[in-house]
Amino acid sequence: MRSREIRQTYVDYFVKNGHLHLPSSSLVPPSGDKTVLLTTAGMQQMTPFFLGVQTPPHRRLTTVQKCFRTVDIDEVGDPSHLTFFEMLGNFSVGEYFKEGAVSFAWELLTQVFKLPEDKLYPSIFPTDEEALELWTKMIGLPASRITRIEDNWWGPVGKTGPCGPDSEIYYDLGPEFDPDPDARVGDSPRYLEIWNLVFMQFNRDTHGVDTPLPRKNIDTGMGLERLSLVLQGVSSIYSTDLFQPIIQRAADITGKRYGANEKDDISLRVIADHSRAATMLITDGVLPGNVDRGYILRRILRRAIRYGRLLGQDKPFMHHTSQVVMDMLGDIYPEIIERKNHVFAVLADEEEKFGHTLQMGLNRFEILIENNPLDTKIVSGEDVFDLLATHGFPPDLTRELAEERGFEIDWEGFERAKQKHSEASTNPDRWKVARVDLEDYKALGLQKTPFKGYETTSLETEVLAVLVNGKRVKSADAGQDAEIVLAQTPFYVESGGQISDTGYIETEFGRIEIENTYKPVGDVVAHQGKVVEGFIGEGQKARAVVDEVRRLDTARNHTGTHILHQALKDVLGNNVGQAGSLVSPERLRFDFTFPNQVTAEQLVQVEQIVNDKIRASLPVTVNVLPIDEAKKSGAVMMFGEKYGEVVRILSVGDYSKEFCGGTHLQNSGQIGLLLISNEGSVGSGLRRIEAVTGRGAEKYIGERLQLVDKLASVLQARPEQLVDEAIELKRKLRDTERELALLQQKQALAESSELLKSVVEVEGVRVLSAKVNAPNADVLRSIGDKLRDSLKSGVVAIGAVIKEKPSLLVMVTPDLVERGLNAGKIIAPIAEKVGGRAGGRPNMAQGGGNDPEKLDEALSLTIGLVRGTIK
Ligand code: ALA
Repeated sequence: MRSREIRQTYVDYFVKNGHLHLPSSSLVPPSGDKTVLLTTAGMQQMTPFFLGVQTPPHRRLTTVQKCFRTVDIDEVGDPSHLTFFEMLGNFSVGEYFKEGAVSFAWELLTQVFKLPEDKLYPSIFPTDEEALELWTKMIGLPASRITRIEDNWWGPVGKTGPCGPDSEIYYDLGPEFDPDPDARVGDSPRYLEIWNLVFMQFNRDTHGVDTPLPRKNIDTGMGLERLSLVLQGVSSIYSTDLFQPIIQRAADITGKRYGANEKDDISLRVIADHSRAATMLITDGVLPGNVDRGYILRRILRRAIRYGRLLGQDKPFMHHTSQVVMDMLGDIYPEIIERKNHVFAVLADEEEKFGHTLQMGLNRFEILIENNPLDTKIVSGEDVFDLLATHGFPPDLTRELAEERGFEIDWEGFERAKQKHSEASTNPDRWKVARVDLEDYKALGLQKTPFKGYETTSLETEVLAVLVNGKRVKSADAGQDAEIVLAQTPFYVESGGQISDTGYIETEFGRIEIENTYKPVGDVVAHQGKVVEGFIGEGQKARAVVDEVRRLDTARNHTGTHILHQALKDVLGNNVGQAGSLVSPERLRFDFTFPNQVTAEQLVQVEQIVNDKIRASLPVTVNVLPIDEAKKSGAVMMFGEKYGEVVRILSVGDYSKEFCGGTHLQNSGQIGLLLISNEGSVGSGLRRIEAVTGRGAEKYIGERLQLVDKLASVLQARPEQLVDEAIELKRKLRDTERELALLQQKQALAESSELLKSVVEVEGVRVLSAKVNAPNADVLRSIGDKLRDSLKSGVVAIGAVIKEKPSLLVMVTPDLVERGLNAGKIIAPIAEKVGGRAGGRPNMAQGGGNDPEKLDEALSLTIGLVRGTIK
C-alpha cells in the first residue's frame, strides 16, 4: 500500500466513524505558546479543547499532523531515525474513552490494514488494569501478549498541560531484526512501536501535580513512516515510498547508488530527511538563524550540505531534493507549493553562504586537530566559538566532526567565550567606534535617503546596501552587527537635539533590530543594528518600522520643549536664548542663557503656563517655507544653526513658532503633563532645565508618591504631617545629642579623678600620662583642664581614640614652662609614634595620628620626655 493510500485510508476510516477531519496545524506553534519551539505531536492543536478553555468544532476529530522532533538529529543517517514526520491521529474530546480508542485501533489495524493479529503486541501503563481488561476481555488477547511498561505515560508537551497513561501497540518485525530469543516488547528493535493511544485525563501544573481534566479525552498518534514500513514490508523507513524518491534524486545528482555502500547511504539518508524537514520548516515560516527554531533549521541545512560534500557535491543541490518533496507532498500540504519560490530562495542562500565557509572551516578544523597535543583529545571552547563566529560553523557540526575523530569539546570554555563575545556586542557604545570607514558609503554614489518619517512610522521599501564593519557585503546574517541603507526611510536621524529613532527592518528573509541611525555621507541614512533572524540582503524588499511608542514619547518631549521655551520667555523675559537641547524618549533638557538665578516661584509659574497650554490642546502645525519668507514670519531660529533653502516652521497654536526639523505631536494635549525635574546653573550666564512629560511624568510622580508613602510608613505619620514630623524629629535629635554630650563629659570627668592616683614624680615634677575615654575633642580638652587644675603644678599627657583615630593632648602648668618644659616639644615624639603630627604652645599642645594600637606605647614616652627637658 502506497503511503498516499495509507494516509487516506486512515482519515476515511475515522471520518466514517463520525470524526471531523481537521487540517494539520503549522510546525510553528501559535505565537502565544512559549513552551515548545516546534510542533511535536498531533495533540498540540487540541490542547485548548482538552483543557476545556475552547470549544472544539466537533467532539471526534482526526488529523494528519506535520511534526518535527529534534532529539534525534544526530542519529539521522542510520536506517531508523528521522526529524520531520507525519502523525496520523484520532481524538476524542470528552466523548469515547479507552474502550473506543482500543476498539477503533484494533479494527483499523486488523480489518482495514489487514495486519496479522498475532504480530500485534499492545503494552500498557503498569497500573492500568482497565486497559489490560480491554485488551484481554474485549479484544480477546491472552494476558501474556500485553507488556507493562513504565514509560507508557504521555506528556505533557513542555512543563505543563494535558497528560495521561497510554497504551502503545507494537508490531513484531521478526527475528531478523533481533535474533535474541529473549527479545522483549519495548526493549528490542524486533518490536516496532507503531501506534500510541493516550488516555488523556490529567493536567499537570507548574508544581508537577496532576489534576483530573474536566473530561476524559483520547489522543492517538501513529507515525505514517513506520506504518508504511510495516505495510510495505521493508526494513527501514528510508526504503518506503516516503523517502525513496528523494534518496533517488540525491543519488542521481551525486552519481551514487543507494545500497551500494553504508557510508554513502548514511549521507543519502541525511540529505533525504533534512531536505524534507527543511522544506516543511521553511514553508511554515522558519528562517535559518542562530537561536531557537532558526538554529534547528540552520543545523539540519548545514548538516545536509556537509553530507552532500561527503558525496562530492560542491554545488547547491537542495532545490532538487526539495522539489521532489514538493511533488510528493504538495497536494497534501498546499502551502508548500504556495511558498515554493521562498523555500528555494532560502535554501539557495544558505547553501551559497555555507558553501563558502564550509571548506575554510573544515580546513581550520583539520589544523586544530593536527596541532592538538597528543595526550589531550579535547577541542578548546574558544576554538569552537571561533569556528562559529568566523566560519559560521554550528557548534553541533564541530562536535560531530570532533566525535568522528574521538575528540571531546570543552563546552564550559565555549560558554565562556560566547559570554565574553555577547557582552562586547551588546554594548550600545559599539556604534560610536564602528563609524570609521566611509569609503564604501561614498562608493554607493547616493546623495540622500528620502525621509518619510513626518508622515509615517512604517513603510515598504528596498534594501539598497548592507555593510558589515564598514565594508559592503551581499548580506548580513543573524547575530551580526550591520548597517543598512534603504531606498527611503521612516527613521529619524539625530538632529536639533532630538535623538535617533529605533525600530526594526524586516524582509521576507530576516529581521534586523535598529538601534541607531546616522548619516555617513551627505543625507544618506545608515540604519545600525543587529540581525536577529535569518539574513538581510541587498535588493530585498523590506518593511521599515520605527518603534512608535518611543517615537511618540520623544515627540511629547519635543513639542514640550517648544512650549517650555516660550513659557521661559514669558516669565523671565525675552532675553532668554536657547543654547542647546536634548530630546529623548525619557526626558528633555533645555539650556538657555540667562544672567540671574531662577527662583522657585518663577519655575512654578513656567510649569503652570506650559501645562495650561497643554490642556488647551493647541494644534501643532507645520509650514514648509523658503528661508527668506520664514525669517519674515518671526519664527524663532537657533543662532549658528545652518538652514537649507526651505525650512520647516513648527507652530503650537499661536503660542510658539520655531524653525524645527524634528518629529512632533499633532496636538499639545498629547503631552499630558510636563514637570520640571531640575533647574540649575551650568556655567556663567548659562542655565539648564530638565523636564519630563507624558509617561515620563507619570513615572516621576509615581516614584515621588511612593517615596512619600514610604516615608509616611517609616515615620508613622500621615503624609500631610510629614514635614512637621521631620522638623520635630530633627529638633529632638539635636536636644538628645546635646544631653548625651553633657552626660559623656560628666562621666569622663568622673573617671578622670581616678587617674590622679597614677601620678608619678619625675625630678620633682608631677607627671600624669594616660589613655582616657572621650567621645570627642571637646571632652578630651575638658578632661585635660580638670586634671591640670587638680595637679596645680605638673604635666598632663592624655590620649583617646576618637572615631577610630588617636587624639592627643599635652598640658604644662605655667610654673613648669618657666623651668623649660614645653608641651609642643613633649607632644611631638608622642604624635610621631602614632603615625601623626602635633603642634601647639608651650603650655598646651594637641595632636593626632592614624594608629590607635600604638597609643599606649606612645603615651608611655612622656616620663622620659619630661626628664630629658627639665632644667
Ligand atoms: N501524543 C501522542 C504521541 O505523540 C499520541 O505519541
